[in-house]
Amino acid sequence: MMPLSGGSPGAQSRSTKRRLPIPKLMESTGDAPLELTMGAGEWEILPGVATPTIGFNGPYLGPTIRVREGQDVPLVYRNTLTEAVAIHGHGLHVSGELDGGPQREIEPGGSWSLELPVRQQACTSWYHPHTHGRTGPQTYNGLAGFFIIEDENSDSVPLPKTYGVDDLPVLVQDRTLDSRGRLVYAADNVEDGFMADSITVNGITNPTRAVPAGLVRLRLLNGSNARYYRFRFSDDRVFHAIATDGGFLEEPVPVREIVMLPGERNEIVVDFSDGSPATLVSGPQQSSVANTGRGDRRGRGRRDDWEPGGLTDAFEILEFTVDPQLPAVRTPMPRQLNDIGRPTVRRDWPVRRFELFMEDADRRGGRSAGEGGGAHRSMGINGLAMDMGVINERVRRGQWERWDVRSFDGSHPFHVHGCSFLVLNQDGRPVADEAAGWKDTVRVDDRAEFIVRFDHEATDEYPYMYHCHILEHEDRGMMGQFTVT
Ligand code: C2O
Ligand code: CU
Ligand code: CU
Repeated sequence: MMPLSGGSPGAQSRSTKRRLPIPKLMESTGDAPLELTMGAGEWEILPGVATPTIGFNGPYLGPTIRVREGQDVPLVYRNTLTEAVAIHGHGLHVSGELDGGPQREIEPGGSWSLELPVRQQACTSWYHPHTHGRTGPQTYNGLAGFFIIEDENSDSVPLPKTYGVDDLPVLVQDRTLDSRGRLVYAADNVEDGFMADSITVNGITNPTRAVPAGLVRLRLLNGSNARYYRFRFSDDRVFHAIATDGGFLEEPVPVREIVMLPGERNEIVVDFSDGSPATLVSGPQQSSVANTGRGDRRGRGRRDDWEPGGLTDAFEILEFTVDPQLPAVRTPMPRQLNDIGRPTVRRDWPVRRFELFMEDADRRGGRSAGEGGGAHRSMGINGLAMDMGVINERVRRGQWERWDVRSFDGSHPFHVHGCSFLVLNQDGRPVADEAAGWKDTVRVDDRAEFIVRFDHEATDEYPYMYHCHILEHEDRGMMGQFTVT
């Protein structure tokens, strides 16, 4: 590693493009367990700068686990780090026992063996820490990976599906390095969560990737702690949204941009058949972009140009060049992708209300969260900060419910374990077409309503969580526990 003189590390190499790394694929044969070992190492987030990091089966991030519906997948997590870690399968429909919440800490030197029954439709999920109070730093330092599920429908639908060629995992995260090349994580006094200044994809800054001259499928995952993105292409091309967190949309939705909050996944298909390169970028809403008539999202009393999650910051995310030698899928976009079977909402379904707050109890005009609201009481849900000893909600298995989530202060990605749900409306507007599929994380500026049904059990010992997916909000208590019986 070269000595660094002043300025930020790798300053002159910041513009050096490197080929986008593709996480190694790990598939279940059903016999030997898939092994995921957490350990420490060094990784070049910036070219030529060795940064101390942590990862699964390597220095940073983790392999892509790919499984099929119907499989029972033996898995073992091993912890060779010096601190305890809980690992959660975000988006998986499994029981609370297998969910990997904060009750399931793996001690240093310890391991957790489990068998995951895969009983849900094709989707792009992920795994990451869920350690009580430590999810933010552990994820930031490198613990995250894709968990992809395939099924008969995803096999048969004519879409690109060659992993690493025209079916690319795209994990977007922001990172800041100090002058010695170490990761900077400063979570104190950051109301909106910790936002860093450089964007990485699959662990590196300034990535480039050659893709075939045809359709290319991107599995976008916002794995950032707190940053929101508005993805679009540098040439403003139209692309198709094909999947949300929990599976395919019913049909491809043509869009020019897509907003993603921490924890969210979207699969998109981009057409490179005319050979012209393009860069995936993120930035403020463009007035030139003919929007789909949804109007801008504004919060109470905010300036019109105010946007949460750093959405007004502009970044180049990932450059694509076209290599005509690569095998290309040039079929037309399929017309139908899925049958969601959206149920008709019934008035007699239970309604559950959640109010997210992040101010002192006494500032919230009479909604007192009780005596002595110290620092850890300043964020929570329904007047309470997360308490491992409290079950906040009890849900009946197999029963459709309507969840009504409101925010008192700011914008939050609200996430629920053990399920996928269908959004009804956000801030009084019906859900947008590209978000009308199965979700497990939803943007709540003022209010979002969704319908949900839980099909697996979560006990008092191993309850599920609902929480804000801004990891600093989660770590500071904007989370609750619930059982399903
Ligand atoms: Cu992605 Cu409870 O987490
Ligand atoms: Cu989750
Ligand atoms: Cu939040």
